[in-house]
Amino acid sequence: MILITGGAGYIGSHTVLNFLNNGIKDIMIFDNLETGHIETVKELQKISSSVKFVQGDLRNIGDVENVFSSNKIDAVIHFAANSLVAESVIEPRKYYNNNVVGTLNLLNTMLDNNCKKIVFSSTCATYGEPEYTPIDEEHPQNPINTYGMTKLMIENIMFDYDRAYGLKSIKLRYFNVAGADKDSRIGEWHNIETHVIPVILKAALNDDNSTFNIYGNDYATVDGTCIRDYVNVEDLAEAHRLAYLYLSKENCSDVFNVGTEKGDSVKHVFEVCEKVVGKQIPHQIAPRRSGDPAKLYANADKIKEKLGWKPQRTLEMSISSAYNWEKKLASMLDSNVVV
Ligand SMILES: NC(=O)c1ccc[n+]([C@@H]2O[C@H](COP(=O)([O-])OP(=O)(O)OC[C@H]3O[C@@H](n4cnc5c(N)ncnc54)[C@H](O)[C@@H]3O)[C@@H](O)[C@H]2O)c1
Repeated sequence: MILITGGAGYIGSHTVLNFLNNGIKDIMIFDNLETGHIETVKELQKISSSVKFVQGDLRNIGDVENVFSSNKIDAVIHFAANSLVAESVIEPRKYYNNNVVGTLNLLNTMLDNNCKKIVFSSTCATYGEPEYTPIDEEHPQNPINTYGMTKLMIENIMFDYDRAYGLKSIKLRYFNVAGADKDSRIGEWHNIETHVIPVILKAALNDDNSTFNIYGNDYATVDGTCIRDYVNVEDLAEAHRLAYLYLSKENCSDVFNVGTEKGDSVKHVFEVCEKVVGKQIPHQIAPRRSGDPAKLYANADKIKEKLGWKPQRTLEMSISSAYNWEKKLASMLDSNVVV
């Protein structure tokens, strides 16, 4: 059985869906539902009744031990974390506790139960201010916020746990994740949304009278706005499946960037959103935010070469699936289908 921590959340649920679509059905989701949703789990269980769900918290080691003592867990795909960059700087205790202590509980319980394979959600935030772009895996890691620091600490712990105990890990450093299930069964559902595409689309649907802020239009980029690398969530889910297969076959640790290698400016993303939505979206230029580098995009040669992964979906496809999902989510919330 594969344990998927954080499987009720955005990327975790799309990875469960990918595994089910590829015949990997013996899955257990472990999630405290802090930012994930039971409706998402139910949607996955509608697709396959083989998906089991345990509500538990990684910070409570008893919850983790119960899962391992009652099930034969062969591998773990580990998404569970807090991941709001700004919040991490204001509340570092919460982030070190959940991301680092929670992961230590998980890794130690894995060792106690002789489970030695894990795929881990790392992030491009471990690189910090880029010294060059595109960013490859050899780029120095100097995170500039607590969130990035927690993920780097976990990468380092995993390195030591491999050397000392033979616990094999694949660390996937994602860039910006976007899009939703093509059939809108699941999608990005964060009660506090900071990601640019859903924020633009919410402004388009005008459910909260919001105006989209473009933070800074005087960067040294093609149109003055920041450049980011938007990887589609279904493509990212596939990267997890390939990483899991690689880990099972090769039994060795590694680290891979997951990005499209194509930087898109915020202005361009905004224009594609207007095209997909078919109308003008309220927006304004706001001052730069501190800690926003001008350009962040991946060199993804390594994952292409070693795992045979490559992005299949365009930015427009990501925005289109995200928009369909946002419309569905808005109507679910309006009709009180969810609690
Ligand atoms: N979304 C992105 O653009 C992005 C980019 C890089 C890395 N990541 C990483 O990917 C992972 C998934 O991100 P996401 O956007 O799907 O986030 P999410 O908040 O939608 O999912 C995280 C899930 O983990 C659960 N969780 C959190 N703490 C837990 C705990 N202590 N015990 C059990 N469950 C817990 C939450 O309830 C949620 O379901 C995170 O580790 C995040 O840091 C995300």
